[in-house]
Amino acid sequence: MAKKILLNAFDMNSAMHNAHGLWRHPLNQRNYTSLDYWVEQAKLLERGLFDAIFFADVLGYYDTYQGSRDAALRDAVQVPNNDPTLLISAMAYATKHLGFAVTVPTTYEMPFAHARRMSTLDHLTGGRIGWNIVTSFLPSAARNFGMDKMIAHDDRYEMAEEYLEVVYKLWEGSWEDDAVVRDLARGMYADPAKVHEIRHEGAHFRVAGPHISEPSPQRTPLLLQAGASGRGREFSAKHAECVFIDSHSFESTKFYVDDIRAKAVANGRRPEDVKVFMATNIVVGRTREEAEEKLREMTRLSSPEGPLALYGGFSGIDLSQYDPDDYMGYKATDHGQASVARFTTQSEKRLKVGEVIETVRKIGGRNSLILGSPEEVADGMQAWMENTGIDGFNLANLILPGTFQDVVDLVVPVLQERGLYKTEYDPGTLREKLFGGSGRLPERHPAASFRNLP
Ligand SMILES: Cc1cc2nc3c(=O)[nH]c(=O)nc-3n(C[C@H](O)[C@H](O)[C@H](O)COP(=O)(O)O)c2cc1C
Repeated sequence: MAKKILLNAFDMNSAMHNAHGLWRHPLNQRNYTSLDYWVEQAKLLERGLFDAIFFADVLGYYDTYQGSRDAALRDAVQVPNNDPTLLISAMAYATKHLGFAVTVPTTYEMPFAHARRMSTLDHLTGGRIGWNIVTSFLPSAARNFGMDKMIAHDDRYEMAEEYLEVVYKLWEGSWEDDAVVRDLARGMYADPAKVHEIRHEGAHFRVAGPHISEPSPQRTPLLLQAGASGRGREFSAKHAECVFIDSHSFESTKFYVDDIRAKAVANGRRPEDVKVFMATNIVVGRTREEAEEKLREMTRLSSPEGPLALYGGFSGIDLSQYDPDDYMGYKATDHGQASVARFTTQSEKRLKVGEVIETVRKIGGRNSLILGSPEEVADGMQAWMENTGIDGFNLANLILPGTFQDVVDLVVPVLQERGLYKTEYDPGTLREKLFGGSGRLPERHPAASFRNLP
């Protein structure tokens, strides 16, 4: 039987996420400062049996392009941008099964406070929380957290390794399973002998513990990651349960999927311990013509400079500094390395800067685009699944709520008819829904080694 497709909605608590210019679209109702808007979105996604909504986040402006933040502000390039974690309680209250994955960087948020916030949300959602672990790629974010410049790319991952050790100790090791006794007769809420300091002393963090939250349903939230550089993939393969990748072709996607699973196995894990989600845009109409018309209208309204501001932040490359006829060359930056490699060292042919600009401007150019009637879109999704080994899709949004509404109303029923998509949620926490089992991280995951703290 074919593997069931997993679906994430990819979004941001921002005026615009990755579809620059489309805030001007007449159907755009992205009222991101309204709680009603987010609650309605959660209900819609749950109606479509989505596995989770995944909130991206950044902590600075995209100011590499033209050496300025102006283009980002003009076009709402992930700015203004509010805290995504604060939406989750309300969205969870209105739903029963939808998961919530939230991006929090290891470079700027202190691990003790982060661990408490995740535990709180895991309690309040009944175990539906995931954490997208990022090291953050914007120099402007570093300047907002007391640094003159960004910590170097690979050093950020080293710091992230230690960060994870701290939070694993807090989540997995600090409170024993039976530490909370709520014993009325003895007058004891928690047994002090079963709650442990973590006494972490490392190169970057000193945390005494114990964890200040009692164990939540999942303890460690579901762990997600999207680093695509060599170092990023090493990190993912060790820690991540869900990996997000940008996708450009069957071949490159299959390469990443196989590579991440092989690296997971080298880390003592199993290939199926990692679910891979491919970023994609879906434009669907009742007919192909209707879908094509939707894309034409979106293309007409899309912004020429917003995508360049975004690419500047991801890559550290300011495309405005080059002649469009220059060839694009590889430059190692401390932003995200995969965004530069894609158009240089990993490209099949040498690309001119003008060609790169054209690609990043195109809707779906940065990742993939599946367009057509509901049946054609389902065919497209099926082909990606069969040819690459991915587990599902991380659905980018173009116009909200339209993009997700179309998928729920038009595509999901076709996938269900073909037996490629669930018809009801499995019970349990987010981890149990995705992986089955006990809902705890397996013994072969590195977090497990911090379970029995003295
Ligand atoms: C689908 C997807 C979503 C991402 N979301 C975020 C995000 O919300 N915030 C962030 O700082 N980085 C985000 N990233 C960036 C990566 O986590 C990573 O930091 C970046 O790719 C640079 O690391 P690398 O050089 O290892 O690729 C995302 C990447 C992908 C592919």
